Amino acid sequence: MDCHEIALYFVMKSRGTKELKSNSFTQGVRENMYWLPIAELSKYRAFPSFMKEYLQSEHAGVEHIVTDERIKEGYKYPLREEAERLLKEAESCNPGPWGNHSRTAAHCAETIAAKSGMNPEKAYVLGLLHDIGRKFGKRHLGHVSDGYSYMMTLGYDDVARICLTHSFNEKDISKYVGNFDTTEEETALIVEGLKAIELDDYDRLIQLCDSIAGAEGVMDQIERMTDVKIRYGAYDQEKWDTNITLREYFEDLMGEDLYVAVDKDNYKPE
Ligand SMILES: [Fe+2]
Repeated sequence: MDCHEIALYFVMKSRGTKELKSNSFTQGVRENMYWLPIAELSKYRAFPSFMKEYLQSEHAGVEHIVTDERIKEGYKYPLREEAERLLKEAESCNPGPWGNHSRTAAHCAETIAAKSGMNPEKAYVLGLLHDIGRKFGKRHLGHVSDGYSYMMTLGYDDVARICLTHSFNEKDISKYVGNFDTTEEETALIVEGLKAIELDDYDRLIQLCDSIAGAEGVMDQIERMTDVKIRYGAYDQEKWDTNITLREYFEDLMGEDLYVAVDKDNYKPE
């Protein structure tokens, strides 16, 4: 069933008895009430599922909580449909070619992942949302911190991480191609975030896909990097070289030419 629920939860005070009386019915079915020990909540199939963790610590005041029960246990990224919805919504806030660039990146990531023994669904979602920070306006380095903070508030930590790492294949903020338009706080968030991360194959995959994803389709890596270099006036040589190394790395994993694997000549984002 597809639905949204808006609910209010209250901390209740005991009446001095554990006896429960319920006279509620839902569509003719009587509702029962039970006490569940908080320490053993993980043993129960109970909804909303965030309560299992939430109730383990003390809370005070009013809190606004947004959760998506469709997130699979332990998964820190949304399902495909939710990711597509998030991108569409973001594009309506800040329309531009970045939307289709993201779709091309997602297509490449999914295809390469499937041929490299990685999770294609995860790769697709990470590719689709790597630039989601653009939702908040036309910023350069700012789109990195905007995306990171946005995804963290939704509980999509895996995507937040990609928002950080996709622009820095050297994990070095000084190598960023574009304007440094972040506040001190945002810059610190990016620097500290990058420090704490050990790049993995998903980080590398999205970096590679970013370097070949155009708004019209898959681009030749050198052509796209040249295009970025012309637009921004410079392109760090080490970053350039690393992108080429990434191409070789994934071609080795796939045992196939990159452009053939992602169907460069035919793929069109829509
Ligand atoms: Fe991108």
